[in-house]
Amino acid sequence: MLKSNRIKNIKQLSDSQFETLYEISQALNSAEYEDTLIEDALDLVIEVINAERGLFAKYDERNDKFEIVSARNFQKENIKDLSEFSSGLLRKVLQKRKPLLYHDVQSDPQLSQFQSVQIQKIKSVIAVPIIRGEKVWGVILADSQLNRKEFTDENLIFFNFFSNLLSLALDRILEYEKLRVENEYLKNQLETTEKIPDMLGSSKAMRELAKIIHRVAKTGATILILGESGTGKDLAAQAIHKLSNRRDNPFIAQFCGSIPDNLLESELFGYKKGAFTGADSDKKGLLEVADKGTFFLDEIADISPALQAKLLRVLENQEIMRLGDTQVRKVNVRILAATNKDLKKLVSENKFREDLFYRLNVFPLKLPPLRDRKDDIPILANQFITKYSDIKLKIDRAAVQKLQDYNWPGNIRQLLNVIQRGVILCDGSKLLTEHIILEEDELMNSFSGTLKEFEKQLLQKRLEEVNGNRTRAAESLGVSVRWVQMKLKEIAEE
Ligand SMILES: Nc1ncnc2c1ncn2[C@@H]1O[C@H](COP(=O)(O)OP(=O)(O)OP(=O)(O)O)[C@@H](O)[C@H]1O
Ligand SMILES: [Mg+2]
Repeated sequence: MLKSNRIKNIKQLSDSQFETLYEISQALNSAEYEDTLIEDALDLVIEVINAERGLFAKYDERNDKFEIVSARNFQKENIKDLSEFSSGLLRKVLQKRKPLLYHDVQSDPQLSQFQSVQIQKIKSVIAVPIIRGEKVWGVILADSQLNRKEFTDENLIFFNFFSNLLSLALDRILEYEKLRVENEYLKNQLETTEKIPDMLGSSKAMRELAKIIHRVAKTGATILILGESGTGKDLAAQAIHKLSNRRDNPFIAQFCGSIPDNLLESELFGYKKGAFTGADSDKKGLLEVADKGTFFLDEIADISPALQAKLLRVLENQEIMRLGDTQVRKVNVRILAATNKDLKKLVSENKFREDLFYRLNVFPLKLPPLRDRKDDIPILANQFITKYSDIKLKIDRAAVQKLQDYNWPGNIRQLLNVIQRGVILCDGSKLLTEHIILEEDELMNSFSGTLKEFEKQLLQKRLEEVNGNRTRAAESLGVSVRWVQMKLKEIAEE
């Protein structure tokens, strides 16, 4: 193309076409590629030339066939099957090595013979080769069916520019596609060998956790699940059960925190008729109901000394006694327990029995806090978006970055809540930073008081998130425990 010709061509582009090219060239040039780079570019092209479908296909010379790099329809959905496009047309571009524009495909005897052209009722097609060195590397094609507008020569010029842009960025695109495929492959591999049921994440910390869970699940050992609030202790307990050979028998969980002692005892151990007022028949405890299965004692740190003694007996001798009964019964249950408190510290303060601690602590399993596995945030966020949104919402790169910059004192549960709120706030097709409302933002936005009041609110909020643990609240606020204690004292004295 002569220079003057090229300039004439550029002038023919409409503003929106020009802007689209600009946008695409910027995306192709940016330091980091969006996961959806090619899809987004195709979507823009489809929109600006008013097509129905777009295809970016690679030609595999050795096997003489085309492969989809990306294919989209105007509803922004992926098309997976290349046979939905006319291979006859692709081959024609390959042969001629020139752009093609057809207005009335159905009445062109040369083209209408192609089966897919018939089936898809294609009316207009625009296709250009991507030439690399001497060879046709691939083809970009857009087509439209009967009810859509015809393509124009101006569209062809636009398409040519687009193809040139892609050829220029081809090395990077290829590298990126390769990484994407490898990533998928690795993820799949991980899923088959190391997946933890219902638990997402492929960060190093999660892969290590997965390995350990798979290993301990089979053993039948008692496991103490440790981790901050919201890190997935419940899920881990369920996963251990599902991966164990007790999986076909019951899994029963009992929350042990803040439940009156006698109520908890009768739940766990059952009672004999007449054991207390209202006990008008014998009742099996949950530990008996869970026979041959798994019993999960959630928030074990909170149980009373009397119950601790009874649990020790279950662990040491697999024996229970119903309330008010004298008969000892054997139970066959595997015990899992969880806490977000420092049990060892409670032992040293004589608040938790040391012998029970050692019985439970046969195998401690520590769940990593979310801030130590920020690599998992994109996967988790995407999964939660799908969970809460009816439409296919995407998440903006900057929004993901905002999530990754935060330190998540409330861990995955907090991430779930933030995403759920974001989905409600978002009325477009992309979740943006402004939809990601973190606790601090919220506090900031609605706050009109003094700095002292702000400190107080932030501290209280943070303490809530970490279940009142002062050490962790101090850590996450970047202050000393002493500071927290002092502030709490001040607040109490107010
Ligand atoms: N790896 C994960 N992948 C997907 N969802 C997760 C994962 N870990 C936790 N969740 C979700 O996060 C929420 C909190 O998890 P869970 O209840 O297991 O935490 P927890 O450690 O038991 O918290 P708490 O100490 O407050 O009881 C749940 O909705 C759970 O489904
Ligand atoms: Mg829990």
